[in-house]
Amino acid sequence: MKFKKKLNLTPNHFTINTIPGDKSISHRAIIIGSIASNTSKFSNFLMSEDCKNTISIFKHLGVSIDTSNSTISVSGVGLKGLKAPKTRLNVGNSGTSIRLITGLLAVQNFNSIISGDTSIQARPMKRIITPLTQMGAKITGIHNKNNDTCPPLTITAENSLNPITYTLPIASAQVKSALLLAGLFIPGKTTITEPTVCRNHTELMLKAYNAKISTQNTHINLEGNHELKNPFSKTIKIPSDFSSAAFFIVLGLIVPNLEITLKNIGINPTRAGLLDILKDMGAHINLNNQTNDIEPTADIHIKSSHLKNITIPISAIANIIDEIPILAVAAMFASGTMKLTNAKELRFKESDRIQKIVELVTQFGGSIIEHDDGFEINGGITPIKHIPTITTHYDHRIAMSAIIASIATKTSCEIDSLDCITTSFPNFLEIIKHL
Ligand code: S3P
Repeated sequence: MKFKKKLNLTPNHFTINTIPGDKSISHRAIIIGSIASNTSKFSNFLMSEDCKNTISIFKHLGVSIDTSNSTISVSGVGLKGLKAPKTRLNVGNSGTSIRLITGLLAVQNFNSIISGDTSIQARPMKRIITPLTQMGAKITGIHNKNNDTCPPLTITAENSLNPITYTLPIASAQVKSALLLAGLFIPGKTTITEPTVCRNHTELMLKAYNAKISTQNTHINLEGNHELKNPFSKTIKIPSDFSSAAFFIVLGLIVPNLEITLKNIGINPTRAGLLDILKDMGAHINLNNQTNDIEPTADIHIKSSHLKNITIPISAIANIIDEIPILAVAAMFASGTMKLTNAKELRFKESDRIQKIVELVTQFGGSIIEHDDGFEINGGITPIKHIPTITTHYDHRIAMSAIIASIATKTSCEIDSLDCITTSFPNFLEIIKHL
């Protein structure tokens, strides 16, 4: 009954106002809120497994975080207030947590060990260890067969730290955020240059918290050793997660006679690149009720559309990186060929997402060619009688993409894990069931 109130059903028009808070911003709310010198209150915080792990880590670092109400409260301890943890820190499945928090731990005056589940223990960490080591940090991990370094990461306190000027070899918000968080604690100027501007939630939140940070195109300058302070007496409302909304955006476009309105979704351009791609494919998408507080939001309205596949511009990849699995599902329902390249990073996500996308599209009767750094999908589906069990490699976005593909192709399928969905979108199945 409670759900019916939230979901307003007319024959083919659904309004969904239960897309949960943004995962990337929720992590940053805890991290930046913890090292601010005052208290911050956040509403629409994403209480998913990944974000709960970030909360638990900051509690182990001595921060008081009250999650007993729907608005959570973080009592910041200031730049000098974090305490040595008495236990190994556990990020679970969250790559954002391990990379960002390692940046912060690398510049503390205590030792720590940080790790996560089996998927995290296979994820490459050299990308943060190399620049943090240049800053003077001491971080060791486990060497893997690809000559990379994986968790558990052991971080040893180091006194002589220096800010760096660093050009990111790949567009990665996790890497730049790790360096910015480390740079906050070091006197002097940390300068980062990115190949293309990728998600900038850390920069926006640091600016809001009065950090000495400036950004110009792909250049970021940060002056360290400067107090962070939440300037808002009111609660900060976290936008709903564009990456979660993306599953329903695609569903609304590819299922005939459907209209969906998704309320209060984050549309930061470094995140919402999928909207431009889908519009270029012919999608009917409108943005209404736009707001711009720390981050821009809008109600996204979509209508079933005849989609035409396109070649995805290389410059768009960083801003659609988490939406590529569900974009591949859209491509199966579009005419023509979708070509996507320059996305080798997909191989280093929660699973090898290029391989998983190829399996998924093939299993649902689509036509796909795998490349080292992307794929080519020819629109159209050959009906399949029996779909073999979808193996997700505990990857939430693969599981949710499979469910959307199953609904749109009207074929039932078995998925080896639905639990993984709780890492980012705990009420996904609830919304699906009621639709
Ligand atoms: C994230 C950055 C991206 C993204 C991930 C969340 C973040 O990773 O894929 O889901 O919150 O900073 P990369 O920085 O590895 O591109």
